[in-house]
Amino acid sequence: MKVVIVGAGNVATVLGRLIKNNGHDILQIVSRTANNAAILAEELNCAFTDNSGVIDKSADLYLVALTDTAMGQLDDRYHLGDKLVIHTAGSVSKEVLKNITHHYGVLYPLQSLRKQNMELQQNIPLLIDANTEEGFTALKNFADTLSANVTTANDEQRLKLHVAAVLVSNFTNHLYAMAADYCSKEEVDFKLLQPLIEETALRLRHYPPIEMRTGPAIRKDIETLQKHLQLLAPYPAIYNMYLKITDSIMNS
Ligand SMILES: NC(=O)c1ccc[n+]([C@@H]2O[C@H](COP(=O)([O-])OP(=O)(O)OC[C@H]3O[C@@H](n4cnc5c(N)ncnc54)[C@H](OP(=O)(O)O)[C@@H]3O)[C@@H](O)[C@H]2O)c1
Repeated sequence: MKVVIVGAGNVATVLGRLIKNNGHDILQIVSRTANNAAILAEELNCAFTDNSGVIDKSADLYLVALTDTAMGQLDDRYHLGDKLVIHTAGSVSKEVLKNITHHYGVLYPLQSLRKQNMELQQNIPLLIDANTEEGFTALKNFADTLSANVTTANDEQRLKLHVAAVLVSNFTNHLYAMAADYCSKEEVDFKLLQPLIEETALRLRHYPPIEMRTGPAIRKDIETLQKHLQLLAPYPAIYNMYLKITDSIMNS
């Protein structure tokens, strides 16, 4: 497929690499900051323009990987008639694209993507949706070339999965950051916790999380909980988080 990518951030870059690697023809990168567009265009060996330039209208597919807010602000230059235009956001309806084309949809990668990670991720879960049968078929065929893990999800299902994704990824990472800060201040090595972090995640391949609960809260071990809270007294943010999650575990 001939593809134009709008955006030059993390998703544009990671999907751009995947698209190129799977034999598609990337024609152009369109992005607000010319320098970022140029960097990605050089890597993907294609043309580029910033927001003042002309968009190549000869592509089959336009992949819009902008921030959620910018997605809804595409101007007249993006009137693409019958072309298939898709965005990559979890929490934005496909309808945000309805004024620029007859065929629109979503290809949402349910994975955390960072352009600095040069390793090509295989089989990223891709959630797809489109407003027309023709658009859906074209998008499904395209998505199948990028991953063996393609699923259909409408706006509502995608939004629900995005909420769950925030819980399992962003929230746990926030806890890792708190723990790392605590370890650093208390001069113990956060890296020693890495095998525990990995083991906890890996178990979920085989067991439901509810069966894998462990620790002082589920055991209702009040003595240990009190010792922990005593140590956390100088760290009010961590103290409050510890209390809230302990309460949630004890009452679940
Ligand atoms: N990263 C992930 O792990 C991930 C996973 C799944 C879905 N998504 C979704 O994919 C979309 C893109 O995410 P991302 O991580 O690639 O974001 P990003 O790395 O922050 O890149 C955002 C892109 O949007 C452009 N942009 C920002 N504000 C703009 C504006 N007001 N007008 C025009 N362009 C603007 C940026 O241009 P400049 O270069 O000029 O800043 C950049 O090209 C989002 O909807 C996000 O929710 C992200």
